[in-house]
Amino acid sequence: MASKPHFQAILFLLSLSCLSLESYSLNLEREADYHKWISWHVNNFRKKTSLEAESTTQAPPGGIGSKLVLDTKLRNAEMNKVTINVSQDGAGNFKTIREAIDSIPLHNTRRVIVFIKPGVYREKIAVPRTLPYVTFIGESSGSDQPTITGNDTASVTGIDGRPLKTFQSATVAIDANYFVAVNMKFENTAAHEDGFAGGQAVALRISGTKAAFYNCSFYGAQDTLYDHKGLHYFNNCFIQGSVDFIFGYGQSLYENCKLNSIGKKVTSVTAQKRTNATLESGFSFKDSKVTGTRSGGGGVYLGRAWGDYSRVVFSYSYFGTIVLPKVGVTGAILPAIRECIMENTNAVDRELISLEEYHGPVY
Ligand SMILES: *[C@@H]1O[C@H](CO)[C@@H](O)[C@H](O)[C@H]1NC(C)=O
Ligand SMILES: *[C@@H]1O[C@H](CO)[C@@H](O)[C@H](O)[C@H]1NC(C)=O
Ligand SMILES: *[C@@H]1O[C@H](CO)[C@@H](O)[C@H](O)[C@H]1NC(C)=O
Ligand SMILES: *[C@@H]1O[C@H](CO)[C@@H](O)[C@H](O)[C@H]1NC(C)=O
Repeated sequence: MASKPHFQAILFLLSLSCLSLESYSLNLEREADYHKWISWHVNNFRKKTSLEAESTTQAPPGGIGSKLVLDTKLRNAEMNKVTINVSQDGAGNFKTIREAIDSIPLHNTRRVIVFIKPGVYREKIAVPRTLPYVTFIGESSGSDQPTITGNDTASVTGIDGRPLKTFQSATVAIDANYFVAVNMKFENTAAHEDGFAGGQAVALRISGTKAAFYNCSFYGAQDTLYDHKGLHYFNNCFIQGSVDFIFGYGQSLYENCKLNSIGKKVTSVTAQKRTNATLESGFSFKDSKVTGTRSGGGGVYLGRAWGDYSRVVFSYSYFGTIVLPKVGVTGAILPAIRECIMENTNAVDRELISLEEYHGPVY
């Protein structure tokens, strides 16, 4: 069941890595660019389809002599899968996810699928660089997704006596490449006031490349999903937070995702951190929805620039009334928007505000 999505995601990510989003984030308004954009997608689709066809019809083991082997190590890892079962009732190989991870040999060369039974796992999880090819599959559906939960914030004191900072506040931290998660809930329950310094509380940080998340949910407030760096794919995911709740300099595609804002003041969904013109980085949201509640009267901007070259694109997406029109925010990026539905057309919401008003320092 898991192998097909893996394969597709990896092909996709590889094709994404060859391309740059640059030309699509600028001057999208112009007709010529639009046609260029369409033909880019058409060509990309053709390329992807032919890669898929080639790699399934040929590719001898190890790939030597074959015209196309995208990633031999990955292919071998996928061909030699192992599984581990985690269940809190003792029916699996381990009762905790951490024990399951600790059982994987360093510099692992096989795809390790960790099947996780429903339950709330109060664990701080780290998948280090030395453990590639790990997959978490939550064994349930809908509302009882297996949950990994924590409540660390940037200002919590770590074992070295110093504040953890944003990076180490993550409930789940993935430094390994080729990580995949299916049907898992990642959570940081730290209570949060918008803009409270040191309140950053990450649910999941992904720093490894070629990672994919299917049917997962991410719950937090400030800084929920640290899309730190690398090529990432998110499909059918739910991401909830208040301030900057998708942030980092990942090069990521979010398809069919729901972003839900719970900020009380005016906040921002994304804080993209592309810091220089050569950095391959950007967030692209396609067929997604941005919704939320205006509990404290605030709305939400789609993005603010955390780096001078930040890139965010929304296509074919829906913005609920919570989403403030994209004009006039000091320090905010104006994400490129293509064929989206904007519910909020209220001119009052177009006032200039300073995002510094709500955002505390970034650690
Ligand atoms: C995990 O559980 C499945 C059945 O749910 C079983 O087929 C498989 O052998 C188990 N794996 C291990 C390593 O025990
Ligand atoms: C975090 O969770 C732990 C365990 O439930 C609890 O003891 C602690 O008080 C919580 N910390 C905060 C700041 O809420
Ligand atoms: C995600 O959930 C949908 C149903 O909502 C299901 O059809 C699909 O197979 C799931 N994806 C994976 C990778 O399990
Ligand atoms: C661009 O930023 C990345 C990430 O911070 C850094 O690794 C790289 O060296 C930078 N490149 C230049 C040309 O400054």
